[in-house]
Amino acid sequence: MNVIVVSSSPNKDGLTAACAAAAVEGVLQAGGYAEEIRLNDLHIGRCQACDNGWGKCLNDHECQTQDDFQSLHARVRQADAYVIVTPVYWGEPSESAKAFLDRLRRCEAPRGRDSSLFGKPVMGVAAAGGSGGGMITCLSSLERWIQHVQARPFDLIPVNRWSKGYKLVAIRAAAQAMVQESMR
Ligand SMILES: Cc1cc2nc3c(=O)[nH]c(=O)nc-3n(C[C@H](O)[C@H](O)[C@H](O)COP(=O)(O)O)c2cc1C
Repeated sequence: MNVIVVSSSPNKDGLTAACAAAAVEGVLQAGGYAEEIRLNDLHIGRCQACDNGWGKCLNDHECQTQDDFQSLHARVRQADAYVIVTPVYWGEPSESAKAFLDRLRRCEAPRGRDSSLFGKPVMGVAAAGGSGGGMITCLSSLERWIQHVQARPFDLIPVNRWSKGYKLVAIRAAAQAMVQESMR
């Protein structure tokens, strides 16, 4: 089973990175293959809302803005499951997460049951390293995204500084369970 673990913080050594590492460990422990993608190392710009709001995404299910999105989109299509880890910024996913997820949703949501993510399990993790607030609104946004692309919300996990110790254990366990479930 091929799991894409997307992390979306500029910080290579923070809470988001620790959560992504825990997810990768869980996948590997269960015998899956994990590909970690750090969105902040890629060049993925925001959706340009081409033409009158929809570009090629609506009918061709491709994004016409050429950057690193295209190669990542191809890898997303091939994957069996996903972990999306984002820092909480203003109670929302980070800018790099939003840019990528917005464009992916535009390409995949119009496909309905033919979405590349249809029925595939997704874990969402919201890492709130500041006040610890905004985890739920951030996860709510991820949940809506999962519904729009017709994937399956395997788990949505809020993490802050105080819960970090036991939530890293939970993220590892959830990723492991997600892989084990698909191998049954
Ligand atoms: C623009 C911005 C907005 C933030 N908003 C929140 C917030 O709403 N709630 C919170 O707990 N932390 C907030 N933080 C703190 C981040 O969640 C914290 O830095 C988190 O640990 C980022 O992940 P990292 O450790 O991987 O960098 C914010 C940070 C930035 C830069």
